[in-house]
Amino acid sequence: MTDEDLIATARDASRHSYSPYSNFAVGAALSFADGSVVTGTNIENASYGLALCAEAVAVSKAMADGVRGGLEAVAVTGPGTDPITPCGRCRQVLNELAQLGGTDPEILCVGAEEVRKLRLSDLLPHAFGPASLT
Ligand code: THU
Repeated sequence: MTDEDLIATARDASRHSYSPYSNFAVGAALSFADGSVVTGTNIENASYGLALCAEAVAVSKAMADGVRGGLEAVAVTGPGTDPITPCGRCRQVLNELAQLGGTDPEILCVGAEEVRKLRLSDLLPHAFGPASLT
C-alpha cells in the first residue's frame, strides 16, 4: 500500500470518530508486512478523561486479532492544519507492537498541506518496551 493510500484509509476511518466533546476527529491506519491494514479512530466518553485515541484503538484491534508484529507504517490524520503527531501514550502503545516484531515503523503525521514522516524511534527515543523486561 502506498503512503497516499494509507493516509486515505486513516482519513476514511476518522469518519467513524466519536468525538462530540473535542470535535477533533482522528484517524489511524496501521500497515503490516503481510499487506494487511488495521484502522482506528478516537472514541470519547462523557467522562472526558476516558477518551481512547485512534492509534490505541487500532493497536488494540490488531492485537485482539492476534497480531504480534510486522508493523511497518502508521498514518495518523486529524482536522488541524499542522501535521498530527501521536500523543505520548500512543507512542508507547505503538512501541509495544513494533518492538514485538522488531520493526521501527514509519509514522506518517498528516497535516492539511504537509505529511511529516518520522520513525517511531525518533518520536520515542530510548523507549521502554518488552525487551526492557528481559
Ligand atoms: N487523539 C488521538 O486520537 N490521537 C492522538 O494521538 C492525539 C489525540 C484524540 C483524543 C481526543 O479524542 C482528541 O484527539 C482531542 O485530544
